[in-house]
Amino acid sequence: MSRRTEIATVLQSPEVGTKVTVMGWVRAFRSRRFIALNDGSTINNLQVVVDFENFSEDLIKQVSFHACIKVIGQLVESQGSGQSVELQAEEIEILGASDPEAYPLQPKRQTMEFLREKAHFRMRTNTFSAVFRIRHAIAFAIHKYYNDHGYYYMHSPIVTGSDAEGAGEMFRVTTLDPAKPALDENGEVDWSADFFGKATNLTVSGQLQAEIGALALGKVYTFGPTFRAENSNTSRHLAEFWMIEPEVAFYDIHDNMDLAEDFSKYLINYVLENYPDDLAILDKRIQDLEKQMKKEDRRPMGLIDTLRFVVDNDFERITYTEAINILRSSKPFKKGRFEFEPSWGSDLQAEHERWLVEKKFQKPVIVRDYPKDIKAFYMRMNDDDKTVAAMDVLFPGIGEVIGGSQREERLDILESRIKEMDIHAEELWWYLDLRKFGGCPHAGFGLGFERIVQFITGMDNIRDVIPFPRTPGKAEF
Ligand code: 4AD
Ligand code: MG
Repeated sequence: MSRRTEIATVLQSPEVGTKVTVMGWVRAFRSRRFIALNDGSTINNLQVVVDFENFSEDLIKQVSFHACIKVIGQLVESQGSGQSVELQAEEIEILGASDPEAYPLQPKRQTMEFLREKAHFRMRTNTFSAVFRIRHAIAFAIHKYYNDHGYYYMHSPIVTGSDAEGAGEMFRVTTLDPAKPALDENGEVDWSADFFGKATNLTVSGQLQAEIGALALGKVYTFGPTFRAENSNTSRHLAEFWMIEPEVAFYDIHDNMDLAEDFSKYLINYVLENYPDDLAILDKRIQDLEKQMKKEDRRPMGLIDTLRFVVDNDFERITYTEAINILRSSKPFKKGRFEFEPSWGSDLQAEHERWLVEKKFQKPVIVRDYPKDIKAFYMRMNDDDKTVAAMDVLFPGIGEVIGGSQREERLDILESRIKEMDIHAEELWWYLDLRKFGGCPHAGFGLGFERIVQFITGMDNIRDVIPFPRTPGKAEF
């Protein structure tokens, strides 16, 4: 294969008069003369100009929608507006023919649901190519942020014997024959006969192992896939999603909130600075969709303006108790517009979170110090003995994007919490050891990768920001 120049390079530093080879997919072929060619390196197409009398009729016919072609030609100054150069085709080769009538994605607006069924082609659309370039950018920026701040990237295991969140929403990992598993004397499945000699699951979080790392390397982060068998068919839940979990020795809950805010702003800023063309396409897409909506259903600001606003303003920080009080004295509560009553001791519902973020404060909100009974066993008990040093970062349009806490470093309190919450302490012997031998105050959080990608790209459904979504009943591709 001869060397090719990527279209991003051609358009970034166009050198009129040079001969280049480009390869890509035909997005349009107008008037048997103008090919819009895209190779995925940028949202922008390169215009290829074809003098059809120089090519065989058979070849011209094969230059069809989403055929893959190679073009050698000369860069010339563009006649039309919108681009500075175009490619005058001298040689065209069909690398992969296509059938424009049978191509599963016809060139018209398709619903997101339809495109999900065609996940093997949806990345070729403008919207999805922009989303997945930005997804890459955020993943890269995450590593850059932590590397630049002196953190070590740590790989936590994917197969695990412990349930970090204690929520019991785990996928079993086993090699036992489901039709006739080994049984113990009580007739129950004998997990000691299983591959790992014990019951194992896919991880729901790398946090507990990240704490091991933090108490040795000081500052670590994990970034890997996590799995939750929760039967939530919502626009914010996946059964397989990626999580970033920084864990830092000597941090308290306030340091943790500072890190969460600085880190999320960095990611947004990184995309604003480096991916303006992709963001512009996504911004325009939303504006087009909103033209058909009622005014009250539209977003208060465009996508890029929203991102800028979040970067430029401090996040609101309130306690859970303050949040409940604000909610109880709110208009929608007094007028009976909330489905669930906000009451001290029960979890904030999505409708409460959204009202706080979108109506009351109109910016991201960090809620901290939640009642101990609605949070995980490892969160640090506050002096009031009622709340724990937990924090959730809530974003407009999405709700919870980050969940974290200061960890309980005091062995006796941790042990009594484990007992209170009926957690199998045997599996956590190593976790308790960390408190016995050189424990220290420490804190961390988990950022839901797809949720931040959702926020930055403005996509409504989390299934449209991961290449191949896993949700209840769906594991195609
Ligand atoms: O709040 P969560 O459950 O926190 C933890 O797992 C902690 N162990 C993290 C830590 O302190 N190291 O999950 C963290 C984040 C949530 O805020 C949310 O953004 C995302 O993970 N998340 C999901 N994203 C997509 N689909 C799901 N089913 C998710 N569940 C959680
Ligand atoms: Mg949470």
